[in-house]
Amino acid sequence: MNDEKIRQQIEKLREDINYHNHRYYVLDDPEIPDSEYDRLFRELEKLEEEHPEFVTPDSPTRRVGAAPLKEFSKITHATPLLSLADAFSEEEVREFDERVKKLSGTGHQFTYIVEPKIDGLAVNLLYENGKFLNGATRGDGFTGEDVTQNLKTIKSVILRMMKGSKPHPSRIEIRGEVYMSKKDFNSLNMEREKNGEPVFANPRNAAAGSIRQLDPKITASRPLNIFLYGLGSSKGFEPATQEEFFKTIKQWGFRTNPEVRVCYSISDVINYFNRLGEKRKSLDYEIDGMVVKVNEFSLQRELGERTRSPRWAIAVKFEPEEAVTVIEDISVQVGRTGILTPVAKLSPVRVGGVEVGRATLHNIDEIERKDVHIGDTVIVRRAGDVIPEVVKPIPEKRTGDLRKFIMPEECPVCSAPVTREGAYHRCTNISCPAQIKEGMKHFASRLAMDIEGLGDKLVDQLVDKGIVSDLGDIYRLDNETLSGLERMGDKSASNIIEAIEKSKHPSFERFLYALGIRLVGEYVAKILAKRFRSIEKLSHAAEEELLSIEGVGPEVAASVVKFFKINENMNVVRKLLSAGIKIVEPDENVSAVLEGKTFVFTGALKKFTRDEAKRLAEHSGGHVASSVSSRTDFVVAGEDAGSKADKAKQLGVKVISEEEFIKMVEKE
Ligand code: IVH
Repeated sequence: MNDEKIRQQIEKLREDINYHNHRYYVLDDPEIPDSEYDRLFRELEKLEEEHPEFVTPDSPTRRVGAAPLKEFSKITHATPLLSLADAFSEEEVREFDERVKKLSGTGHQFTYIVEPKIDGLAVNLLYENGKFLNGATRGDGFTGEDVTQNLKTIKSVILRMMKGSKPHPSRIEIRGEVYMSKKDFNSLNMEREKNGEPVFANPRNAAAGSIRQLDPKITASRPLNIFLYGLGSSKGFEPATQEEFFKTIKQWGFRTNPEVRVCYSISDVINYFNRLGEKRKSLDYEIDGMVVKVNEFSLQRELGERTRSPRWAIAVKFEPEEAVTVIEDISVQVGRTGILTPVAKLSPVRVGGVEVGRATLHNIDEIERKDVHIGDTVIVRRAGDVIPEVVKPIPEKRTGDLRKFIMPEECPVCSAPVTREGAYHRCTNISCPAQIKEGMKHFASRLAMDIEGLGDKLVDQLVDKGIVSDLGDIYRLDNETLSGLERMGDKSASNIIEAIEKSKHPSFERFLYALGIRLVGEYVAKILAKRFRSIEKLSHAAEEELLSIEGVGPEVAASVVKFFKINENMNVVRKLLSAGIKIVEPDENVSAVLEGKTFVFTGALKKFTRDEAKRLAEHSGGHVASSVSSRTDFVVAGEDAGSKADKAKQLGVKVISEEEFIKMVEKE
């Protein structure tokens, strides 16, 4: 074979490899098996080894292999990498929109482009005539560190631009975010832990630490990725909009984020933000908000920049889900099934949008594993609807004034002995007032017997005063007893009595769920009710029979059998039935009042959490969606219902209040 033929063969292999590389790393849609890719790669390696005169720096074989550096050299960016002003509320986003409108003058038609704000580190990539020349970190915005060799090890950083509908510019700076996926971060940390190496605090630190390695081989061993999102200086490419910029660089083979959208109004932008917040957990990379940019470059130029940040863009941040505070004390809470849960009393701190003063520590094993003490400075976390929890202490903040937490040997409420079952401690007295109170609150709750007005405070009073001591006693309450209580008028007393009366005809599954049998949640209650149809039959069921039901595991089976074996429990059940509770067979037609209807919840709900509202709607045959569309039947608007309610009005979707929603469900 003559030299020219060989050169052509090498070039063809590079093109094929680049093509498959793009399918695999950028589009996440490989066309050939890994083994075939490896074969092509080995063939190229072999030819290049035999003909070193044909090796070029942009060959796919040159991603790894550069020698370690002593230090990074500096690169001055052709145009500075600005940062963004932050917004934390819908109001601030609307203010941004007002400013843009005011500065742009009247009659200016423009749109916004919205993008997830990737939590990684910003880099600048420089390409000349379609070839990757160098790459740098953001640094101080003007000058960064030359991390070219490290960036080359990232397979989604293309070394050569592909053909697109537009010619390659002679020179172009493209900005983006290097990041590590959540999955890769977790496996990297697991691996490091196994090898006794220090773990990274979060994916961003892991990505930043990996890109700033002097030895590119180390960077190559770290699973990094990139999304490109910005245009720096460019010669020979002048897109009209950010949208066109994305479309073109995608054709050239650059990896862009699939969640990018164009918005036609600020309400659209806010809608996108809310949807992104809901989607956040399911994304495989971390984001800390969204970036809103004016889509048209002409208007961007007109608006210009402040010192460090543009007037044409803003970062809208999610409420941070973690905060730092101090554990003032640790107390013990006794739950419905007698489990003792250690709860940290915190110096109040804002996290995830609300003020938090307490956080669960789960159980003693967790306290020991996390090495948490009273007096520790800790990270607390609250994500969505979940109970705030203590993530870990910050040992560097310790002053020596620490106290170890010890689980009490006696129940803090009734002084009965406490037993230990695995990680859990449990009060052995099933008549423990704490257990009775919690059991009663559960019994009266919306998804159980749904006794309106029989809330936490009233239950505490009734048990503390000895007026009720088991669930059956609820049905012996009368007007006179109730209206004699603190802060209780005649009217509220009779409302509660009425609600108690109304609760006397539950479905079997509700009743079963209301009894509060350990491990019998709504779902298990439903399958048990379906199978046994009566409490009489269920109470005689043997463990094997329960185990034969799909969805019932050994622990659930044992717990059900144990519950009905305890005399006191059976007495309570009998007492309830003799007090007039009549279990009704569910009538399929009536229970599906919301059948086929789609709901969207928005704003702060007063009566229940989002999860409860969702379950409630689904209980009655409804469906719950996260965003408003023409297929939505009802938007349930709580307090401060913003853009979703607006959107509903635009689309002509019915907006109802929380109270109206409750009425609909109660028709059941
Ligand atoms: S645009 C002038 N778009 O956020 C435009 N930045 O404070 C500035 N970031 O340093 C950047 N995702 O590291 C832009 N889709 C995105 C982004 C993004 C993450 C980071 C970037 C920048 C910081 C802005």
